[in-house]
Amino acid sequence: MTSSSNSRNSTLANTQVQRLSSLIKKSSMTRKVLSSFILSSLIVCRLSGQNNFIIEPYIQNTTDSSFHVLYETSEQSKAIAFLAIAENNVLRADFKQVQQSVISGMLHNVEFGNLKKGEQYIYRVAAVTGKDTLWGPVSRYTVPDFYHQPIVCAIIGDTQKSPVMWGHFAGMIARERPSFVLHVGDMVQYGPRKSDWTDEFFRPAKNLFRFCPLYPVLGNHEMNIEYFYQYFDLPEPKWFYTQKKGNALFVFVNTNMDILKGSKQYRMLEQVLASSREKWKIVLHHHPVYASTGYHHPFIQRVISSDPNTIQLRSLYETYGVDVIFNAHNHNYERSMPIYRDIIDETNGVTYITTGGGGGALDETSLTRTWYMAETKSRHHYIKMTIWGNTLTTHAIDSAGIEFDRWVKIKDRVELPVPTIDCKEFYFLDQTNIVIRNPMTGCELVWKIDDDEYQTSSDKEIRFKVSQTAIITAFAKNASGSVSRSVSQKVVQLPLMTAQHKKEKTKVKAEYYEGFYTVLPDFDKEKPLQSFTCDSLTLDVIKPRREDHWAARFQGRFTVPETKVYRFLLQSYDGSRLLIDGKEIIDNDEMHYEIFRDNYVALEKGEHTFEVQYFDFTRRETLNLWMNEPFGDLIDFNEFVKKNF
Ligand SMILES: [Fe+2]
Ligand SMILES: [Fe+2]
Repeated sequence: MTSSSNSRNSTLANTQVQRLSSLIKKSSMTRKVLSSFILSSLIVCRLSGQNNFIIEPYIQNTTDSSFHVLYETSEQSKAIAFLAIAENNVLRADFKQVQQSVISGMLHNVEFGNLKKGEQYIYRVAAVTGKDTLWGPVSRYTVPDFYHQPIVCAIIGDTQKSPVMWGHFAGMIARERPSFVLHVGDMVQYGPRKSDWTDEFFRPAKNLFRFCPLYPVLGNHEMNIEYFYQYFDLPEPKWFYTQKKGNALFVFVNTNMDILKGSKQYRMLEQVLASSREKWKIVLHHHPVYASTGYHHPFIQRVISSDPNTIQLRSLYETYGVDVIFNAHNHNYERSMPIYRDIIDETNGVTYITTGGGGGALDETSLTRTWYMAETKSRHHYIKMTIWGNTLTTHAIDSAGIEFDRWVKIKDRVELPVPTIDCKEFYFLDQTNIVIRNPMTGCELVWKIDDDEYQTSSDKEIRFKVSQTAIITAFAKNASGSVSRSVSQKVVQLPLMTAQHKKEKTKVKAEYYEGFYTVLPDFDKEKPLQSFTCDSLTLDVIKPRREDHWAARFQGRFTVPETKVYRFLLQSYDGSRLLIDGKEIIDNDEMHYEIFRDNYVALEKGEHTFEVQYFDFTRRETLNLWMNEPFGDLIDFNEFVKKNF
């Protein structure tokens, strides 16, 4: 704070004291109460208008020649930034001002550019209000050169609701001097609460993030909240992005949203993995693929060996030779054996590491050993990972600094890139177009349809049409006879469901049932307790209803604008089912948390009937239905529900 602002504040304080003194004489309040009121008033008076850091400066968005520093202040202020090169044997850094913002704000983002790889820099940022200047600490940053130094990073997950343990790990990680930190989600306990971010996540790690950028993925506890998009300067769309570091590709995926085949995100992930030429491929997402602790329900004690929405990603990871997947969500540690096509395979296998021990309340390890389990521990921890040349090493380190698991992968053979089979309409009505692309010059494409003979071509790409259900398989082969992993694509012909031209004027009918349901009941044999008519498919119309143990059925009509294949996506907690024109399309039954299921239907232009069944066992009630073109944006099903009654 400057001296002028100090004197202004003390004048204000004196005036306040005079007013309060006269109030004491007139008031009947006790002296004790007034004394504490005066004290708190003075504090408020002195702090009012003084700029403070809500979040201290932290590094984001680093490139080979730049980095950004973000910080949040309590007052509207303008950012200024200074940079110096750390010279040998020079005590005072020669700071040069590199940026001064012209617009005031509270969330600041300054860029330091034109940097050299391997150079050590010293930076300092400040916020100017006009009354005072708030200085950040003097901090160092070196632009890493990952072609001449190892990649050293830390990985942590589920730091939620535990600022003390998270702060402890942030200190340990800082002393390892990693080049960056990866967070596998559930950074905070309750995403919409700002103090979870400012006080519980950023503040305990302020001395780590001054030097070290963080690359996060969204966990379920972040709730896809705007704070994530404000506080992290990541490549768009931020819920999915990649980072290339030397010969390693890192892919950051959001498993809280649609990731099934046919989703936009699945296609983005497939394209990124297929086009990567990096030696090491590493994927991070919050929900595990292989986790022995699984998602058991205490009532039925049934263990599912992975998340049903992420298990289908296995084929992508195996096809494109991903080395390791980091997950969290389960608050413990588990490393799988290398897995390829459902068996342990040391040569082609993919390793899955669950690292959910960043501070949140621990989960027990699984009751039994699964076939794929290599190591498991229920303890707070983080992972240090080092990549240099042909060797990737992970160290699992607990809160006492003890390494309790180490995994080394040596990759001394060069894998040929895999061809891509591009087929947007992999569910089709009449026929579909297939494009197989040769991954590199000098390679031959080898492919087949179903069990036909393999065909070979040295063309850049091959195009053909398929008019019946088939499986296309392809791989690449080089001049010395080495072959790539194979890729396959199933294409499915669907029968057309004809429109119903009844022109009925019916609203959506909703029925409410009660019972101790653990699966969907046979609704035709149950007696509804109440019926509602409404304009859309939503649980909101089922009111009044009990908190748990109830079911609902919705029946109505919807209209599709053109004859083609539509994708339907049904999400529920607990079970649900979709029927179209009386035929079951999606079975999402049984007790579970929010699970997505999808299917494809060829619908004739016009009206069709729908039925959606749902039951709630305990906890949350969620029911959502969307439609889209394969790989397109999701559209709420209610957009198609007949409304012109
Ligand atoms: Fe968690
Ligand atoms: Fe989670």
